[in-house]
Amino acid sequence: MKMTYREAFGAAFPEDELRFEPSEGYDEFVPRGSQDFVFNVDLTRDLVMVLLSGSSDGLFIFGPTGCGKSSHIREVFARLKMPMIGMTCTEATTSADFIGSWVLVGDDGMRWLDGPLTIAVREGLPLVLDEMDQMRPEELVILNGILDGSPLVIPQLGGEVIAIHPRFRLIATGNSNGTWDGSNAYVGVKRQNMAFMDRMIVARAAYMDPEVERMLLEKAFLGTTITSDIIKKAIELANDIRAQFLAGRIGMTFSTRSLKRWMRLTIAYHRQDHPLRMALLKALVNRAEPVDQEVIFRAAAALFGNAFGSGDTLS
Ligand SMILES: Nc1ncnc2c1ncn2[C@@H]1O[C@H](COP(=O)(O)OP(=O)(O)OP(=O)(O)O)[C@@H](O)[C@H]1O
Ligand SMILES: [Mg+2]
Repeated sequence: MKMTYREAFGAAFPEDELRFEPSEGYDEFVPRGSQDFVFNVDLTRDLVMVLLSGSSDGLFIFGPTGCGKSSHIREVFARLKMPMIGMTCTEATTSADFIGSWVLVGDDGMRWLDGPLTIAVREGLPLVLDEMDQMRPEELVILNGILDGSPLVIPQLGGEVIAIHPRFRLIATGNSNGTWDGSNAYVGVKRQNMAFMDRMIVARAAYMDPEVERMLLEKAFLGTTITSDIIKKAIELANDIRAQFLAGRIGMTFSTRSLKRWMRLTIAYHRQDHPLRMALLKALVNRAEPVDQEVIFRAAAALFGNAFGSGDTLS
């Protein structure tokens, strides 16, 4: 397949050519993309490099919640029409979950079901692990050999050996850089094994540039009850809260995800008194700690004035 970066990802990208063999036969594994996604140039280039270069390095993308890590990955696959296997990791995820298991199928007895890693390695599909840093590090060590190019050996199948398909890749996301950031903001994040992390390219994702975020929200919401003045102030508020969160002053952040939800709810509540206030409560404030609720509400009231309703009270 031949296309340029610009054709695939938009005007911010150069005309450099992307050449790759299309993957055939895995259409159902190609994520569905959205037309209005705004690609970050650095992150997109890292992803394309890992997917299309011959190197077997893994890619770990870390950054604060809702800044667009998982969606970037999905959208890049969608634009390249490439299939992927996605899996969300938890503390309970084990290497056996990666490999597969024997399951009882009615009267037919036991049947082996390949896990996502086995399918990915065998079929040559990139494996995308979301929230990888939630996993216990010893369960990820199985990937060390694979990232080195050693075949996957499946003890449960009597030691069956599966060679690593040249198109296999490992891409993962997390909220920490693998060392655990010392904060309690992301419950369950664990320090990862240094030898494993040494096999990964590590990219840092951040919240969108305010100007880019403004364009994104205007494209999505202008023409409704949301005005460009509301969008400008909403982004200002979000960036104020993000800065306070990143500086450790408050325990709540304001993701692009929550920002979009706030705007959507403001439209939904447009017939009620103070829709911006109602919507902010439900999109963000109701799940913050009481001290943070006040900080956010006060900042919003200062920015929006009368449109936000009076007082700092949370009702
Ligand atoms: N570049 C972008 N263009 C358009 N929408 C975006 C972009 N980045 C983020 N979003 C919006 O924010 C939502 C959250 O993004 P995403 O789920 O990718 O965040 P994340 O970084 O993976 O968060 P988490 O750490 O919570 O998993 C997306 O569903 C999308 O609506
Ligand atoms: Mg994610």
